[in-house]
Amino acid sequence: MSELVNKIPEHVAIIMDGNGRWAESRGLPRLEGHRAGTENLRQIIRASVEFGVKYLTIYAFSTENWGRPKDEVNGLITILETVIDRELNELNAEGVRICHLGRLEAMPAKVRKKVEYSMHITQNNDQLILNVAWNYGGRDEIVHAIQKIIQASVPAEQVTEALVSKNLFTQGSPDPDLIIRTSGEMRVSNFLIWQSAYSEWYVTPTLWPDFNKEEYKKAIDAYGHRKRRFGKLDQ
Ligand code: IPE
Ligand code: IPE
Ligand code: MG
Repeated sequence: MSELVNKIPEHVAIIMDGNGRWAESRGLPRLEGHRAGTENLRQIIRASVEFGVKYLTIYAFSTENWGRPKDEVNGLITILETVIDRELNELNAEGVRICHLGRLEAMPAKVRKKVEYSMHITQNNDQLILNVAWNYGGRDEIVHAIQKIIQASVPAEQVTEALVSKNLFTQGSPDPDLIIRTSGEMRVSNFLIWQSAYSEWYVTPTLWPDFNKEEYKKAIDAYGHRKRRFGKLDQ
């Protein structure tokens, strides 16, 4: 463990990238990488509680990921179902509240019901808020917010940044303090494009299935040394 840092991000968001490359480099099918990535999540959730992170948002499936081969998409849906079945009771017992970000209605009914059930039974937990972005896109989220605002007949002059934030899927979570992207890609890929206006970024070449607690601690430590200015000057 490295030295203690006193600045812990309240909200960490992770683009869990590199599962496919992890599998391909081992001569395995891509889905094996997704399975390994899901296994890895357990230690990162637990470490979040240990480090004092209050909100953890994970990017699991983007609106663009529907464009992948059918087998991979179906495999990812099955993995989501399996992981809910397997982990829900334990996560609930540990005080994790599960929230979903994205359009639930476009997901197959069986998995949608599982996601809804997991949100329902964990709704009073507050040890860690776990936002799972599945069928999530930042642009789609903004379109969805605009639709809701128009449906509520809000007059134009009453449309504020606060109102837009309130209508996003992340409503109830503060903006992310730290966004981690694994696998070295330096792009946003449609993740939290509104909420990340002043987030700190941390990109590591480590592929997601290899991103362990130690690597996570390095990211938290790096955040602890950042100077956030929000467009102003240092105090
Ligand atoms: C991230 O891993 C998980 C999803 C997008 C579902 P990838 O599947 O994108 O892995 P790479 O980028 O091809 O290595
Ligand atoms: C972003 O990764 C989406 C998730 C991690 C779920 P992608 O692999 O889909 O992003 P691109 O295509 O490299 O930008
Ligand atoms: Mg990728």
